Amino acid sequence: MLGQFISPEQYASLLDDGHRRAAPLLELEAGMFDKYNREPFLVSHRLAEHPDFSLERLLALCRRLPSRQVLFRVADIPGDVELDTSYDRYKRDLTLDDVIDHFEERQAYICINNPERDPAYRPIIEGLLAELAAQVDPLDPGMTWYSTYVFISAHDATTPYHMDREMNFLLQIRGGKTVYLWNPADADVMTDAQKDYLLAYVGSRPPYKPSIEPKAAVFQLRPGLGVHHPFIAPHRVHTGSELSISLAVTFRTRRSDTWTRAHQFNTRLRRIGLRPGPVGRVAWVDRAKATVTRAWRRARRALPGQKRD
Ligand SMILES: [Fe+2]
Repeated sequence: MLGQFISPEQYASLLDDGHRRAAPLLELEAGMFDKYNREPFLVSHRLAEHPDFSLERLLALCRRLPSRQVLFRVADIPGDVELDTSYDRYKRDLTLDDVIDHFEERQAYICINNPERDPAYRPIIEGLLAELAAQVDPLDPGMTWYSTYVFISAHDATTPYHMDREMNFLLQIRGGKTVYLWNPADADVMTDAQKDYLLAYVGSRPPYKPSIEPKAAVFQLRPGLGVHHPFIAPHRVHTGSELSISLAVTFRTRRSDTWTRAHQFNTRLRRIGLRPGPVGRVAWVDRAKATVTRAWRRARRALPGQKRD
């Protein structure tokens, strides 16, 4: 599994670290996080000045990481292809070494999964996570899981329309990026049923529809700027004519875990023909649904011969 869980003890220490850090990687302004998890917003950071995020060091990281942690594809791809299969469909027969050696020429795109597992990158990424946790905690306490990704693209790359099952801060380190984000609460963008199935991993992710294009919030990122993605907010990303490097810090919290389990509860009801109320309206209803989902999972795990779901 990508990423790692954060125990309550680890979270307490993360928060402590985030409040005490003397050389912050985030450039905070008053009210910067006010729209957290309701709307996307820009954040400022200092990662662009950090030597560990130079192209040279990141490509060296790609060479030393286990190959399963480094995904790549080549050439421009359409903005509406399915993200999950795009790496297989657009890698041709190339090897990672070939892609690294001819990065610009191949118009390559590399995604490094979990650079924090590398001892050289762990301290800086955990430091950044600690700073984010310190800002997020008053609004949404209890980070339970996190995972980070570095994206490197030669030029003119597209990350097709998709939505992730967590929150994200996408931080631009080199070059530019145009990020299109949609409101997950807009039923034209995703229906309640689509959101339930997304969080229950039923079928593929909700597809792009041309009719929602005018509804996108558009953010132009440059080095030193990042954008917050609210929980499951659909997005599509384009880079420009120059090399782009960015870091995504994705995470879940106790509240987003409750929403996830409530969506999974709804999916069970939909399977027997019911139409459950939407998640995110009434907190105690979400919590009750989440509690039932957890109890169901525990009961299933306790039964001999039952597989985990
Ligand atoms: Fe994403």
